[in-house]
Amino acid sequence: MTARPVPLFDLGAQHAEIKEEVAEAVARVMAEQNFVRGSEVEGFEKLIAEHTGAGYAVACGSGTDALLLSLMAQGIGPGDRVVCPAFSFFSSASVIKRLGAEIIFADVDPQTLCIGPKQVESALGCNDSVSALIAVHLFGATAAPIDALVDLSRKNGLALVEDAAQAIDARDDSGGRAGIRGDYGCLSFYPTKNLGAYGDGGMIFTQDPDRADRLRRLRDHGEGPAGHHPLLGINSRLDGIQAAILSVKLRHLSRWTQARRSHAALYDQCFDDLGGGVGSGSFEALDLPLRRPLSPAPPALHVYHHYVVRVAAEHRDPLRAHLGRYQIGTGLYYPVPLHLQPSLAGRTAPPALPVSEAAAQECLALPVHPSLCSEQIHFVVDAIRRYFEG
Ligand SMILES: Cc1ncc(COP(=O)(O)O)c(C=O)c1O
Repeated sequence: MTARPVPLFDLGAQHAEIKEEVAEAVARVMAEQNFVRGSEVEGFEKLIAEHTGAGYAVACGSGTDALLLSLMAQGIGPGDRVVCPAFSFFSSASVIKRLGAEIIFADVDPQTLCIGPKQVESALGCNDSVSALIAVHLFGATAAPIDALVDLSRKNGLALVEDAAQAIDARDDSGGRAGIRGDYGCLSFYPTKNLGAYGDGGMIFTQDPDRADRLRRLRDHGEGPAGHHPLLGINSRLDGIQAAILSVKLRHLSRWTQARRSHAALYDQCFDDLGGGVGSGSFEALDLPLRRPLSPAPPALHVYHHYVVRVAAEHRDPLRAHLGRYQIGTGLYYPVPLHLQPSLAGRTAPPALPVSEAAAQECLALPVHPSLCSEQIHFVVDAIRRYFEG
C-alpha cells in the first residue's frame, strides 16, 4: 500500500501540464482587451462545432444557463410540462421550475441510470401538454437508444434537450457525438468537467440556424438592433479569457478522454477479477459485493466524467469513510433524487421512483481524472477489497 493521496479531481496536475499554453492565451486576451464575446469566443465556438459536428455552437455563462436558454428559446413557460430524469444534477430540473413550467419526473433505466424510451413513455402516458424532454447523459455515457428518444420526441411534438454537461465527446449508440442529435445539446465547462474552464462556462449546440440566432439573442438580453430588446433575454455570455483557455484545453481533450477510459478499463478489470458485478442487481451472490458501471458497446463511447460503482446502501457511507482514511477522494452523485428535493416540489406528492431512489443510496464515484496513474487505481481497489474483507 502506498500512502500517496488519491484526490477525486486534480486540477493542479492538469494545469501544470499546460500552464505555458494557458499563460500565452490569457496574455493574448489581455493585450486585446476584448473580455466579453469577441473573437476568442467566436473562435472557440467554431472550433468546438468543427470538433463535434454540431451545426451551431452558442457559448454562454454556464451549463445551467445552457439548459435554461434552450427552454427559453423553445418558449417554455407557465402551462408547459417538461419531462426530466429524477437522478441527475439539480439544474437538469431546476431550470424548468424557474421558467414557471411543471417538472414531470421520470425514473431512470436500472442499467444505464439514464432516462430511456420506456421511462419517457410512462411519463407521457400519465400527462398531457408535455412540451419538452431533457435527456441527461449521466456520468459521461449517453441516454440510449438515442434514435428511439429522438423518434419519441418527434412523434409527441416534444423539443429534445440533451443535457451533455458531463458527456463532451461521448458517442451515442448511433456513433454520433453527445449533444448533436437533439434540438438542443447543452455542455458545462465547470472547472472539474472533462473540458473545464478556469471559472464557469457553458454551451448550446443546435443544428437549426433560427434556433442558434434566438439563443444568441437570448444570452445577450434579447437584444435585436442595438438598444432594442424584442426578446426578454438574460446576461449569460462566455468571457474571452475562458474561451481562450478552453480553446487551449480542447487540443488536449482527446488525450485526457483516452486516459479516463484507460483508468476505467483498469478498474473494470480489477473489479471483475475480484468477483464484482456489473450494472444493477443484488450484491449477495458476488465475491466482491460491488457493481461496476456498464461499459456501453461500440459505437457508443463512455467518457467517464465519473466512474461510479454501486454498493449496498448500508455499505456506501462507511466505505466512503474508510477510503477517506486512506486519503482517497470519492463523490456522491447524487445523494438526493430530484423528485425529493423540497425546492423542486410540485403541487402534488412526489411519485415513487424506485430506481432513482436506490441509485441515490448506492452510488459512489471513484477517482478517474486523467492525471491518475495505474498504481493509484490499484491502491483504490485494494482499499475497497480490504473494507469488504473486514
Ligand atoms: C448533468 C448536469 N447538468 C447540468 C449541470 C450544470 O452545469 P453548470 O455547473 O456549468 O451550471 C451540471 C454541472 O454540474 C451537470 O452535471
